[in-house]
Amino acid sequence: MPLSFSEIDPAQAPLDLLLLADPSETKVRSYLASSRCFAAFDGGAIVAACAVQARGGGTHELMSIAVRPGSQKSGIGTALLEWVVGFHEKAGAARLEVGTGSFGYQLAFYQRQGFRVTAIDRDFFTTNYPEPIFEQGIRLLDMLRLTREFGSPHPS
Ligand SMILES: CC(C)(COP(=O)(O)OP(=O)(O)OC[C@H]1O[C@@H](n2cnc3c(N)ncnc32)[C@H](O)[C@@H]1OP(=O)(O)O)[C@@H](O)C(=O)NCCC(=O)NCCS
Repeated sequence: MPLSFSEIDPAQAPLDLLLLADPSETKVRSYLASSRCFAAFDGGAIVAACAVQARGGGTHELMSIAVRPGSQKSGIGTALLEWVVGFHEKAGAARLEVGTGSFGYQLAFYQRQGFRVTAIDRDFFTTNYPEPIFEQGIRLLDMLRLTREFGSPHPS
């Protein structure tokens, strides 16, 4: 069955899924109620979800995006991200931002969709999370802020 995409009520967003993208349940719960949530469905079941917050001035921030572990690496995350980018572009947003670790496959995942590095938040992960976070055996320290500007061509 082909994937379908739609906005969902934040109250229906699968918390277990969003926690794959952000290990802090406190943080996820704190932004979820004031976010718009979007999901990819396969045969009626949610296989991927993301949360986006409006920041004002046409800026929106992708707070988290995650695909069910058994369905990762099969293009679903890319398809949901493309759909969410298109949704905001069509709605007249100026830009979509995301914060992510300074290394790892997630960085390529966003950059493939035209996100570019716009800032470095040094020590973000040590300052904002009580427990160390490791990716590929390396401790995450700094966060990169990436921005996809709308209205400017996406160099591919
Ligand atoms: C990041 C995530 C949303 C990407 O969705 P996905 O459906 O798995 O990714 P896609 O199949 O669209 O593939 C995108 C690229 O990421 C790579 N990738 C995805 N998961 C990967 C993993 N665990 N390890 C290494 N590479 C991975 C894919 O191989 C692909 O690269 P390629 O085209 O060179 O093969 C998903 O892997 C996920 O939920 N991860 C856990 C939560 C998370 O880290 N969220 C992002 C927070 S910043």
